[in-house]
Parts: sequence; structure tokens; C-alpha cells
Amino acid sequence: MSTVIKSSILELQETLGAWRQQGQAIAFVPTMGGLHQGHLSLIKIAKENSDRVVVSIFVNPMQFAENEDFGEYPRTLGDDLSLLKELQVDCVFTPTAEMIYPDGLGLTIDVGKVGQILCGKTRPHFFNGVTQVVQRLFDIIEPDVAVFGQKDCQQLSIIKQFTSGVKILSGAIVREADGLAMSTRNQYLSVDERQIAPQLYRTLSQLHQGKLDLYMAKKQLQQYFKLDYLEILDANTLKQITDNTSKIAILCAVFLGSTRLIDNIIFRRENV
Ligand code: PAF
Repeated sequence: MSTVIKSSILELQETLGAWRQQGQAIAFVPTMGGLHQGHLSLIKIAKENSDRVVVSIFVNPMQFAENEDFGEYPRTLGDDLSLLKELQVDCVFTPTAEMIYPDGLGLTIDVGKVGQILCGKTRPHFFNGVTQVVQRLFDIIEPDVAVFGQKDCQQLSIIKQFTSGVKILSGAIVREADGLAMSTRNQYLSVDERQIAPQLYRTLSQLHQGKLDLYMAKKQLQQYFKLDYLEILDANTLKQITDNTSKIAILCAVFLGSTRLIDNIIFRRENV
């Protein structure tokens, strides 16, 4: 089956409409391109849970602050399309900013306090921008299911809370052989930084295994990185752990040079 590439909303909707008329379920994987094995694992989940898979490639200006990397964000459309064709993705949607934001870049979604903690402290605009683009893409594509990565744990939680009409599935973090969580932004790391980067997951693992406490884990991270946050929270609410907590999340963000890396470990709480 060949992959169709759509950059017009009308043409996309015609294709989706024909599939829907045949009773086919549609899964959606939103991306900003710069595809890696992490994205491909989400596409695999999408395929397992639907008849047709749509992948979008859109670097969303609304989720970048002015001082961030919107300009430098890897744009690798040719390579991305080759990968998606190899995987026999049914449809790739490559909209322009004008199509996604026909009324301009004014913000209409405010996710409130949950968007101001953890990553939202350093990137206060980020979750409003993500929620806005995801809801807009959901409105255009009207998928049955959509798949997001667990690496962006706070993003996943906010999307579950603030978007509607679509079943949300998630895919586990995919790691390099040395433990570094795959991310498009890993391309920014220099050779020396790439050697240091796995210390992030190593430290989170030691904290998880009880070999370090939170204080020592922070100290250890600070030897290698500028620490943004390291927190242990209820994985479902992203609030402090209570007697009702069934799943725990160790969540971390650090800067390595000018590159911001995030990672997490999520696990069941014992005896609950
Ligand atoms: O996780 C991402 O790549 C982006 O935040 C998303 C969900 C594609 C929205 O632009």
C-alpha cells in the first residue's frame, strides 16, 4: 500500500472520509518531524490499534518561546517521508502554520496551573501551545485514537485532560544502547555532551533502585548538568504522593549546554 502525502485539509479530509465510509478506524500520531525510533514505536502502536494510520509533521510555532529553538528545530522532511513510506504509513499530513492557525497565532487554550509546574515553570507557554495544536489537529483529522510518547509525561497527562473526543494511547520511552532517551533534540549535543548525556538516565535509575535518595540524586545530576527539576510525584495526578497513589513518576529536566533534556521513570507503587 502506498503512502499518500497531504498538505491540504480538504484533500486530507476526502481521503479520511473515504476510509471512514468503509468502516475503517483511524489512528493518529502527531509529530514535529525529525523522526527517530521513538516516533516509529508510536506508529507501531497506532498500526496495532487501527486500520489506517495518519502521521502529521508540523513544527508548531505556538509551543516555542521567542528565545527557544523554533528556527533550529531539525526539519528533515525528505528523510521523515522515506521512513514513513518504509513503514507503510497510510497518510502523512504536512500542514502550514496558516492552515493550523487561520486566525493567526493568538492563544485560545489556557491549561491553567498544571501547565505551570515541572516543564511549565521553565516553559510557561509550552503546554498551552501543545494543547492548542493537538486539539486543532484532532478537529481536522477526527481520529479514533491518537498515540503520544511517555517521555513527554506531562504533555501526555495534559493532553488526556484537555483534549476531547479521541482515545489517547501512549508508548514507552525508547532509549539508545547507553540509556539516553531518544529525542529529536539529541541532535543538538556535541560529541562531548553526547558522552555525558546518559548520566541523566543513570541517575534516575539509581534513584529508582534506592541507591541514591532525592538529595543525592540532585547533587549527582548537578555534577554534569544544570538541573531544571527532579521530582517524585503521583504519576496519575502529577501532584504529591498520597495514600491513594498507585503509580509513581520520577520526573527530570536538565540543561546540557544549551540543550534541554527530559526523562522519567514510571513505576507501580508496591502494596497499594
Ligand atoms: O511531542 C511532540 O512532538 C509535540 O509536542 C506534538 C505533540 C507533536 C505537538 O506539536
